[in-house]
Amino acid sequence: MKILVTGGAGFIGSHTCVELMKSGYDIVIADNFCNSKRETIGRIEELGGKSLRLYEADMLDLEALRKIFAENDICAAIHFAALKAVGESVRQPVRYYHNNITGALNLVTAMNDAGCKKIIFSSSATVYGDPATVPIKETFPLSAASPYAQTKLVTENLLRDLCVSDPEWTCILLRYFNPVGAHESGLIGEDPNGIPNNLMPLVVMAAQGKRQLKVFGNDYPTRDGTCIRDYIHVVDLAQGHVAALNYLKKCAPGAEAINLGSGSGSSVLEILNAFEKAVGVKLPWEMGERRPGDVPQLYADPSKAKELLGWETKLTLEDMCLSSWNFANRQG
Ligand code: NAD
Ligand code: WQD
Repeated sequence: MKILVTGGAGFIGSHTCVELMKSGYDIVIADNFCNSKRETIGRIEELGGKSLRLYEADMLDLEALRKIFAENDICAAIHFAALKAVGESVRQPVRYYHNNITGALNLVTAMNDAGCKKIIFSSSATVYGDPATVPIKETFPLSAASPYAQTKLVTENLLRDLCVSDPEWTCILLRYFNPVGAHESGLIGEDPNGIPNNLMPLVVMAAQGKRQLKVFGNDYPTRDGTCIRDYIHVVDLAQGHVAALNYLKKCAPGAEAINLGSGSGSSVLEILNAFEKAVGVKLPWEMGERRPGDVPQLYADPSKAKELLGWETKLTLEDMCLSSWNFANRQG
């Protein structure tokens, strides 16, 4: 069964391709490598145990997407390809809206024309804004505090509207919490072009002595004053996509939003402690100011994923820290 994975060379996409291939799926990747590297493709094939078909294609190029559907019998798509840096989206809103929304529009247009009407979309916990309470359920109100978050909300709405307009469409909107970690082989992991924005890659760089780490504020209303997030190992997340795809094949048409998180929150200081303990290094860090836009606490109620997909996280914070460290040191 052939699956189109857009953004398959990226952090979450690469791990998902490996898990899909191990589960017997054939993979077609569409990626323009704007935030990933070509050598990842060979590594996915090595870890997945078979070859895949790569299209170096931009989601903004509708004809390129049509060609992929014309040349392959694709039964479903997993749509990862997007720009994802929240701060950058504030500075470059047009680029973000264009890439993420036009990209999604082109994909569903090509899919519709090819009669392929099953899609899994990479949404994000960012669509919950600053929730009134935690843990967060899928039924909570949605809001967007950045252009990036807007692109996720707009795409979710597009897919919901598509399902209303055409009862053959089935869309799963996966809302990820904070993906971290890397494949245990150390061959694939989070390897963005440029300076990373997220905590774990910055922790790793601090441990390598490449950067000073700042904790963004300790005056939040949390147990130690630093922000709480739901960190999820990328391999658990990848397996969540396999479970979602298996569900997508048999579920009733329509749009379904599902949280993918562990259900437990860790503070920034707890992450730093877990990393030091797991890896056995002392992290150089200092306390800094709050980062604008950060909300105190975000963690998932993952019960819907367990009920519908039969999926829950298995890997620990220690696994997340060790695998991130292992991957970073293999890259040099
Ligand atoms: P990533 O940047 O590592 O992967 C995205 C991939 O998409 C990259 O390989 C990039 O080259 C490709 N891409 C981007 N725009 C493209 C375009 N126009 N045409 C073709 N390819 C394009 O990001 P990731 O962390 O793997 O995230 C994957 C998805 O999950 C994104 O949609 C992101 O918004 C979403 N998400 C990520 C996180 C996170 O913290 N990593 C959290 C929630 C949701
Ligand atoms: C985690 C915690 C920071 C860096 C973002 C997006 C979200 C989703 C996941 C895509 C926060 C603190 C960070 C640093 C720090 N992505 N921190 N020092 O902000 O929870 O979520 O990535 O959808 O939409 O907003 O993740 O990794 O940036 O931060 O203290 O140098 O680490 O304040 O509390 P965030 P993050």
